[in-house]
Amino acid sequence: MSLLKITTFPDTILRLKAEDITDIDQELIDLINSMYDTLYEYEGLGLAAPQISVSKKLFVIDTKKYYEDGEKLLLINPEIVEKEGSEKLEEGCLSVPDIHCEVKRAIKILFRGYNLDGKLIEREAEGLLARVIQHEFDHLNGILFIDRISTINKHKIAKDLKKLKEKG
Ligand code: NI
Repeated sequence: MSLLKITTFPDTILRLKAEDITDIDQELIDLINSMYDTLYEYEGLGLAAPQISVSKKLFVIDTKKYYEDGEKLLLINPEIVEKEGSEKLEEGCLSVPDIHCEVKRAIKILFRGYNLDGKLIEREAEGLLARVIQHEFDHLNGILFIDRISTINKHKIAKDLKKLKEKG
């Protein structure tokens, strides 16, 4: 088992647009295994490569660990093709420790991306899985959930964010 260091706000790597992955090689497979180890260790639902300072289009998700109808999912070079509906639910992020806030997201999405075999998968997701995919997908575009919260909530968490900034 190998644990990776999680990059936290306000590190600028979290703000970069991640690069396409061109090769699925052993190095990438090792990285993915370590990402899953790290995800489980810190009890997250998803982890995107920029969160471990790798600016590449890749994320791992496992909602199965906490929810009976959950799922384990890994996506390389993902895209969100369609979005439907919207609902507000509380979110957190391993890169923004100790802050939780309501975020408006689509309820249902159509997404695609490559799996470990290099096969393109395209399918729908809804509810929690759709939310986690949207959250992780944002990481690949340098967007954090705190960018998507209401002005009122931004004021509410301002102090906590300042503390994180000072911790650097
Ligand atoms: Ni996150």
